Amino acid sequence: VTRPAEDGVTVPPLRQLQARRSEKWAVFEPDVLSLTVAEMDFPVFADVRRAVTELIAGSDLGYAVPATRGLREALAGFARRRLHWQVDIDQVTVIPDVMLGIVDLCRVLAGPDGAVSFATPAYPPFFREPALAGLQTIPVGLTATGSIDLTHLETVLRGGTVRALILSNPHNPTGRVLPREELAAVAELCAAHEVWVLADEIHAALTFPGATHVPWFEVSDAARRWGIVLTSASKAFNLAALKTAFIVTACSAARDVVQRIGPQHDHASLLGEVAAEVALRDGDQWLDQVLAQLVANRDHLAAELNQRLPEVRWRIPQATYLAWLDCRALQLDAEPAEVFLARGRVALGPGLNYSPAQQGFARLNFATSPALLTEAVTRMQRALDTPVN
Ligand SMILES: Cc1ncc(COP(=O)(O)O)c(C=O)c1O
Repeated sequence: VTRPAEDGVTVPPLRQLQARRSEKWAVFEPDVLSLTVAEMDFPVFADVRRAVTELIAGSDLGYAVPATRGLREALAGFARRRLHWQVDIDQVTVIPDVMLGIVDLCRVLAGPDGAVSFATPAYPPFFREPALAGLQTIPVGLTATGSIDLTHLETVLRGGTVRALILSNPHNPTGRVLPREELAAVAELCAAHEVWVLADEIHAALTFPGATHVPWFEVSDAARRWGIVLTSASKAFNLAALKTAFIVTACSAARDVVQRIGPQHDHASLLGEVAAEVALRDGDQWLDQVLAQLVANRDHLAAELNQRLPEVRWRIPQATYLAWLDCRALQLDAEPAEVFLARGRVALGPGLNYSPAQQGFARLNFATSPALLTEAVTRMQRALDTPVN
């Protein structure tokens, strides 16, 4: 089947991207090539654009009906087809976004005296947002191979204050897909200490061929009893602006916890609900195209870095469009992202935001065109060749 041109993964020219108003582009000066925030540079799935445009054209911009059956069925169908995950549509709650869900669940579960944990390097809001809500955070390290340090986790859980573990699977920023045995071990440990797992599976649909995402609820009885899954169409379909995400549960105890966060669905967006339904119901072919492009981009980036910046090391991600770059061998005088931005005009995610104790890393978002990845590596090289003034 030939794809209509409007549905392609052709990235607009850099000038056009630089004029975008989303965070990835708008926070930098106009000459910067941004590879920061987890947004993609591809055009949004055409059916989604049409559906959203129709709502706007019809002045249909009122409140959303919470979690329509069509939306919940679209999520369940997508989960079944693409993730081998059987979602019970009666246990789906709509929320505005994953982070709001995580923070409110942490608040309910940890109360004023409890703590929450997560594996580092981590998505920066995991450090920031529970702390802003007054909660203590106790990070757990990843091992050298990127797996969760189970010994460290057990020690932390034995401490007795942690009430919830936020588990990013696939992991941001490493792009690692957690294997079943590791997930089962985490589930067992958490169940033994009566600690809830908030399984953040927002990147799951971006798992590349060759790796298999194991949905948290397909891991074990312990995972279903002590788990709450958060997900969204926003990452895979690039819809972060539209504010619609999901909490999914698999037992009545978890459903009771979710009830206690209050009616977050009242704050989700009609645009987002309609977009998510179309994307999850009809977007398989578009997503396959995007995944193929992301794999090509990942391999292109690997070849470019290997050839032109061989000191930069990274583990090739199995999912997401994020590259966690170990730049320590460059022996820079400052945070790598600062050097690349100031001297090369290319913006990466500063490693210290993901891992405050570990200098010398940067996160690169490769959801763009191969040509812009080449340009990014050229700018990184230029930064290293430019003397500090
Ligand atoms: C692991 C992870 N969780 C949550 C989010 C944020 O999701 P939302 O915009 O739905 O809050 C992101 C965004 O990049 C993410 O990478």
